[in-house]
Amino acid sequence: MNLKVSNLTKIYGGKIKALDDFNYNFTAGVYGLLGPNGAGKSTLMNIITDNLKATSGEVSYDGENTIKMGKNFRKILGYMPQQQGLYPNFTLIRFLYYMAALKGMKRSDATKDIERLLKLVNLTDCTKKRLGGFSGGMKQRALVAQAMLGNPSVIILDEPTAGLDPKERIRIRNLISEIAFDKIVIIATHVVSDIEFIAKEVLLLKEGVIIDNGSPQKLCQELDGMVFEITTTEEKLHEVTKFFKVGNISKDENNIFVRIVSETEPTGYTFTPVKPDIEDIYLNHFDDA
Ligand SMILES: Nc1ncnc2c1ncn2[C@@H]1O[C@H](COP(=O)(O)OP(=O)(O)OP(=O)(O)O)[C@@H](O)[C@H]1O
Ligand SMILES: [Mg+2]
Repeated sequence: MNLKVSNLTKIYGGKIKALDDFNYNFTAGVYGLLGPNGAGKSTLMNIITDNLKATSGEVSYDGENTIKMGKNFRKILGYMPQQQGLYPNFTLIRFLYYMAALKGMKRSDATKDIERLLKLVNLTDCTKKRLGGFSGGMKQRALVAQAMLGNPSVIILDEPTAGLDPKERIRIRNLISEIAFDKIVIIATHVVSDIEFIAKEVLLLKEGVIIDNGSPQKLCQELDGMVFEITTTEEKLHEVTKFFKVGNISKDENNIFVRIVSETEPTGYTFTPVKPDIEDIYLNHFDDA
């Protein structure tokens, strides 16, 4: 199973280059697409799902152009868009049957699948409610459920946990890693913890270009010996944030602890080396973004 993106470029309105000769070969597994606002994540997903035309380049699935595949590609595709364009007057159950019908699923198959998915996203008790009355988090979960209808082999999720409370965030994350077996799952996010432990590969996207990619372990190794925790005081905090790429700041009664990424040891400060994580990778690449 492979989803190949070749030489994909998207220029909006003749000016804004949202994707710049993007190339990648996705195989079974979870991929985290990480990048700041405007990096091109949604643009890439909209093109893969054929909701947007590329300026140039193509997408193929197992060697076949996905636009030519048409209906046959849509059948194996699950997509959760970033914008919550839901049908406010539809009840949840009607919405899910409607989406299943669009995918060409038989009603009896849809019934079984919907029941299973409602449990997974914790919405079993809300089937008769209208979507217009859903909270933001409920809408997100309804969208995750519809993306997984029909057991698709390619699943594209654009910021699936945006607006979810911590418990539902974990639920969705676990759900994704459970269903990911033998599927291509691509998740766009700026929330590092969404993908840190479930992604096979992380792609860092900046201005439409992949600036770094690899397994979380590989990416973290790149920063070995470059992440430190400085112990400092309120008075000196300003100085530290001015000189270093600063991540998490925490405090206790006496001290302030500042996590930094730095190519050299922060001599002159009290510090301890710490183990890099994906948050540090993000900070290192996008500190100025
Ligand atoms: N319909 C559009 N018309 C013009 N420019 C657009 C359009 N959609 C996106 N862009 C521009 O393309 C670039 C990439 O946008 P995109 O939405 O793909 O980024 P993103 O990585 O998904 O950002 P976010 O994290 O905010 O969702 C941005 O500069 C954006 O302003
Ligand atoms: Mg987006």
